[in-house]
Amino acid sequence: MADFELNGSTMVCGVMGDPLEHSVSPAMHNAAFRKLGLNYVYLPFRVSKENLAGAVEGIRALHIAGMNVTIPHKVSIIPLLDEVDALAQRIGAVNVVHNKDGRLLGFNTDAEGFLRLLKEQGIEAGRMHAVVIGAGGASRAVCFALASLGSNVTILNRTVQKALDCAADMAKYTGRTFAALELNPDNLASALAKADLVVNATSLGMAPQAGESPVNGKLLERRHIVADIVYNPVVTRLLSDAEKAGARIIGGLDMLGWQGALSLEIWTGCRAPVDLMRRAAAEAVKRYEK
Ligand code: ATR
Repeated sequence: MADFELNGSTMVCGVMGDPLEHSVSPAMHNAAFRKLGLNYVYLPFRVSKENLAGAVEGIRALHIAGMNVTIPHKVSIIPLLDEVDALAQRIGAVNVVHNKDGRLLGFNTDAEGFLRLLKEQGIEAGRMHAVVIGAGGASRAVCFALASLGSNVTILNRTVQKALDCAADMAKYTGRTFAALELNPDNLASALAKADLVVNATSLGMAPQAGESPVNGKLLERRHIVADIVYNPVVTRLLSDAEKAGARIIGGLDMLGWQGALSLEIWTGCRAPVDLMRRAAAEAVKRYEK
């Protein structure tokens, strides 16, 4: 049972995506709402690709205050919204919807969340060669953030056309050139040989496929900084291989916490308790791992 009262004035937020079984966003946001004494609740909404338009209409009809958007809807939701802020448009992905008096506004907090994470960790990515694996919505945000700092970015993706499209869009909006390659062992080896920072922005390694990694562990070296957007498990195969190679690692929960905190700030106007949100998310992941 919830240790707070839900009533007729409770504001509803949530996350829409598919699958959602392993999402820790409800635990993270509800902990923050309780801490801030806000009459809000956060729920998971499993929405298939076919039902996305209906679900977006439902946000309006049900007066849902705010929604996070995750796999596989971050890109396809854009034309369904009333307005998309300039940053989210450039990134080409929305992970936050704010229902403002019936108008649905789209934002992207993944990019700013990644920048906050780098800053907090004291990583000067502007001087680095970065390899970003994946070319979906999360990857676009990471690439955009890195390019805005001046990093040299190589994008590798299973579907090479998506890497090329991502690179072209990023180049258009940031004025920087990006390399785009197919994700295969040879390209990974040559890209990692030059890289300082490696970011997995694919879902590879996420439970229930927890043993998988996009990178052969033999390619990882002590000088690499390796970040993973996957947070479940907390230490993915990629991160444990990186640790074994002596590399510095950054887990997905740290990035999740920032994007969640920034989402909450958009919906409520309150300063979000990011550390508490991270702790709540970490505890929720531990419950899944049991
Ligand atoms: P998100 O919005 O969270 O980034 P997405 O847009 O569905 O989600 O993108 C998922 C990314 O993970 C894509 O880059 C995808 O590669 P493809 O473009 O080739 O589909 C990548 N991905 C997912 N499963 C993968 C796998 N088994 N091997 C390699 N890449 C994978």
